[in-house]
Amino acid sequence: MTKDKDSVVQHSCKILSVGLICVDVISVAKQYPIEGCDFRLLGTHWQKGGNAANTSAVLSMLGNQVDFFGAVPIPKKSDFHGQICVGFIKEKMESYNVGMDKVVERVGDALPFSTVLTNSDNGSRTILHYRKGLEEVKYDDFLKIDISQYSWIHFEGRNITEVTQMIDKVVMYNSNERHERITISVELEKPRRANSVLLLPHADLVVVSQDFAEFNGMSSAVEAVHHYMRSCKKEPQLCAHGVRLGLLLG
Ligand SMILES: *[C@@H]1O[C@H](CO)[C@@H](O)[C@H](O)[C@H]1NC(C)=O
Ligand SMILES: *[C@@H]1O[C@H](CO)[C@@H](O)[C@H](O)[C@H]1NC(C)=O
Ligand SMILES: *[C@@H]1O[C@H](CO)[C@@H](O)[C@H](O)[C@H]1NC(C)=O
Repeated sequence: MTKDKDSVVQHSCKILSVGLICVDVISVAKQYPIEGCDFRLLGTHWQKGGNAANTSAVLSMLGNQVDFFGAVPIPKKSDFHGQICVGFIKEKMESYNVGMDKVVERVGDALPFSTVLTNSDNGSRTILHYRKGLEEVKYDDFLKIDISQYSWIHFEGRNITEVTQMIDKVVMYNSNERHERITISVELEKPRRANSVLLLPHADLVVVSQDFAEFNGMSSAVEAVHHYMRSCKKEPQLCAHGVRLGLLLG
């Protein structure tokens, strides 16, 4: 984490990653269990989850200055589980040197929590996601951030209505000639999120997940890139990732 606040030059290459942070509890099993059975696991551990949180940690490991922007609850004193979860993700993000001072804290809500069962035989994972109450970051929250300090803003395509407005705000900022241009990237991951393609027209970099592409009828990474390229502005970078789709940069 850079504590050197008076260095203006460094601010110009900061990255903001917008989206979800949660706790993932991973349990590894030899095979997928049968309902109602008593089953022994091979291993279990906690990790910080959420795509935007993961993106921020990875970009920070690659040597960038990164801030995370998402919703984090302030659990009630009596909520022991909540206290542990929030303490855990904050500590994790700190260990990756990701800035957490832009997060929106919401009193009394619960942090999203995923229980992930990994089948060690074939690597399949079954995700049980719990979320209740915690409202995600909104356009109004985004307006409170001074975006001029960022050279790149990455958006996880979650609440499309809100994220579209955030992107429009960056586009407007970029249209001012006196402003150094901010690069915009978006990630389309959850297949059933309607209107996700509305995020494409202004993106400089688009990341499409295998689940998303397959659900929408694509059978290869090349097909996905060609398909989504049509909704993008001229010459974006488009990347489809996943085991069966393969990786392609176009
Ligand atoms: C990012 O997510 C992947 C997949 O879950 C995980 O293996 C990796 O450890 C995560 N990296 C960080 C820095 O959080
Ligand atoms: C993994 O094995 C389970 C059965 O234990 C099966 O239902 C699932 O489709 C398999 N997944 C993959 C990715 O092969
Ligand atoms: C997205 O946010 C709006 C508020 O701006 C809310 O009404 C809507 O339910 C949210 N949609 C989803 C899918 O969370």
